[in-house]
Amino acid sequence: MSFDYINALLKKPTTRTPIWVMRQAGRYLPEYRATRKQAGDFMSLCKNPELACEVTMQPIDRFDLDAAILFSDILTIPDAMGLGLYFSEGEGPKFERPIQTLADIEAIPAEVNNDLTYVFDGVSTIKSALGTRAPLIGFSGSPWTLATYMIEGGSSKTFAKIKAMLFNEPQMLHLLLDKLANSVIAYLDQQVQSGADSLMVFDTWGGVLSKQNYLDFSLDYMQKIVSGVKAKHPNTPITLFSKNGGKHLGEISATGCDGVGIDWTVELGDVERQIGDKVAIQGNLDPAVMYATPEIIRAEVKKVLDQFKGDTGHIFNLGHGITPDVDPENMKVLVDAVHEFSAK
Ligand code: CP3
Repeated sequence: MSFDYINALLKKPTTRTPIWVMRQAGRYLPEYRATRKQAGDFMSLCKNPELACEVTMQPIDRFDLDAAILFSDILTIPDAMGLGLYFSEGEGPKFERPIQTLADIEAIPAEVNNDLTYVFDGVSTIKSALGTRAPLIGFSGSPWTLATYMIEGGSSKTFAKIKAMLFNEPQMLHLLLDKLANSVIAYLDQQVQSGADSLMVFDTWGGVLSKQNYLDFSLDYMQKIVSGVKAKHPNTPITLFSKNGGKHLGEISATGCDGVGIDWTVELGDVERQIGDKVAIQGNLDPAVMYATPEIIRAEVKKVLDQFKGDTGHIFNLGHGITPDVDPENMKVLVDAVHEFSAK
């Protein structure tokens, strides 16, 4: 079985530039909204392997995508750690019991895979549904990004609590990040054992840190994850994505990962010249282009593709998730344009 998505990550020859889209299964699709309604709410959907499989397959059935991504959330690990995850309408994720003290961190169980069997059942269910149609991406959050939600108690604009801990009690934060890194390694290992063909680590909030703090509090732990997972699964490609991480791409590409995700604030051509000899690059159309007309979307796709000079090593994606109010027809325009313009 040979997939363009996996080949591009390994810098092997491809038939055309592969594309998948972050949040490709989600609220912009009416069939997703219907299944979510049937499940009751978002977390019930995540915790039901059959329904999670159904929504994972929805964009694969509708568009000519080159990879499927497990339908789940990065906050499953903190939920399994006992923090009480819930989603309040319009406000995003929240925790009933956020991390506040050293005792809270010490109380976190070392091993949480037992409470995440629904995720691994989801992976194997999706894997059978996919067959040889497309490879399956498993994922987790980065320790730093998970810790922001666990300490802030939800989304944050200032990151006041976690940054206060970083400066006042750095060893305490390191203890939490280390526990998270170990849980993430076990979680990703089990996803591969259940059928994931490739892995991605989402570091949505790494970009809010200064250079040195990014290296010490975010990248170091992602490096640990890459080494830990590669020790068990040397052939499973791993992509790291630090949103707003454009200033750290040299360091990210030196972790031993296979792919680096980039957002739209950097130029793909510049990034290729900087790290393209070491890793594959995933990205990086501005997600707001999806609000434009089909003609403009096609023109913007061409601009991104033209920047990349290598024969392989580019995986097309948006620079962040597709937004809920995008017209699904524009997703078809996007996917087909990438394939049309990059066909060899
Ligand atoms: O990409 C995919 O299609 C796979 C599924 C996926 C989801 N979340 C589904 C989801 C993935 C990979 C994630 C990762 C995730 N979750 C991240 C990292 C990636 C990123 O976006 O930077 C983060 C930070 C989260 C935490 C989270 N979960 C947020 C901030 C939200 C949005 C809350 C809101 O109301 O907009 C979620 C919920 C979520 N995760 C949704 C989906 C489809 C929307 C839930 C719904 O149906 O209402």
